Amino acid sequence: MTHTHTFDLAVAADLSRTPIDVTAVLDHLIHTADTAAATSIGYPGAVDLDHTAVMTRLGHWLWNNIGDPSDTGGVAHTRVLEQAVIAWVADLLRMPVEDRWGYVTTGGTEGNLSALHAAYRRWPTARIYYSTAAHYSVPKIVDMLGAYKVVVAARPDGEMCYDDLAAQLRKRRRWPAIVVATAGTTLTEAVDDTRRIRAILTEYGMAGHLHVDAALSGIPLALDGQLHLDDAGGIGSIAISGHKFLGVPTPCGVVLIRDSIRTPARPQVAYTAATDTTITGSRCGLAAALLWHAIALHGREGHWWRAAEARSTAAYAVEQIRATGWAAWRWPHAFTVVLPTPPESIRRKWLLATDGTVSHLICMPGITRGQIDALAADLATAITTPIPRPRTPNVTTMP
Ligand SMILES: Cc1ncc(COP(=O)(O)O)c(C=O)c1O
Repeated sequence: MTHTHTFDLAVAADLSRTPIDVTAVLDHLIHTADTAAATSIGYPGAVDLDHTAVMTRLGHWLWNNIGDPSDTGGVAHTRVLEQAVIAWVADLLRMPVEDRWGYVTTGGTEGNLSALHAAYRRWPTARIYYSTAAHYSVPKIVDMLGAYKVVVAARPDGEMCYDDLAAQLRKRRRWPAIVVATAGTTLTEAVDDTRRIRAILTEYGMAGHLHVDAALSGIPLALDGQLHLDDAGGIGSIAISGHKFLGVPTPCGVVLIRDSIRTPARPQVAYTAATDTTITGSRCGLAAALLWHAIALHGREGHWWRAAEARSTAAYAVEQIRATGWAAWRWPHAFTVVLPTPPESIRRKWLLATDGTVSHLICMPGITRGQIDALAADLATAITTPIPRPRTPNVTTMP
């Protein structure tokens, strides 16, 4: 290690200085990440998978998948792996083979953008509905599309308020509806009930599209058979992050869209010999390889066990935190444990994501019971009277 604890990264990284000690900068980044790992339990990246083989073996070349994953020409270095990833995720979600399309994205955000863009082109007069618990990318995307947004109330536990959705839809029955449901809301990991949403749309005879933002929970719920895109469910598209449950060490994801809702236009680009159907055109082939590798390492069964173990750690966390006198709760399917916001020192140390009076930790695969014990010990020292009460006690705490 060539740096000391006084190492100033901003100074060392300043590109106007010479000479630049590149090794010291890289050492510092690695040291910082290593040091932070033990207490990084607030954000949803799995830490149990080893991607070193792909990172070191493929690190010397450019991996660019230009154009559509189904193209046959052009430059697309890991297109075959991308196709395998798309097929695996679509099969897992039971998406009909004859009505599916998708690609490897830069993350859940691009997946939401691609899906909502496709749906809005199909229904250009639609109003786009999403709940107050939806991810911040959703209102941003609606603005980018220039569409009308309708914000639906969410309950304190994070699930969409269906009565409010019904009331909002009823007022706008003359326009098609694009509804964004979330499978794993950012703060509490609530899962909106797509069957209920579809039933409300059917009751009002409304045309439109149901998109699921499943950035965190898409794969774990699908492994359990709790989320699928078969014909009965009426879900038109889904966005999943690759750096969350699959722990890929670079932001990436998968989007799947019903082929039948997409515009038939398939713009051809002469100089790339590719079809321009994705948001970015040039796309990260390394991400496709990393996703493929992560899936191949464990297969369906192995990933199911990863999810089961992580949920068991989350249940343990609820028990241990409650044993200190601090409140905590989780949805039965969730890796996320919600608690009243602890003091600043604890939040900072454990990187607990916080929204006002509520914070969370996320027991992603790789988070250990030892880490939970250490957090619980910190919370125990922070207990003052009166003990904070759970904000949403009405949710089961055991898987
Ligand atoms: C519900 C939800 N949607 C979308 C996203 C964005 O995903 P990404 O970071 O992969 O763009 C997140 C990220 O936290 C999320 O929690």
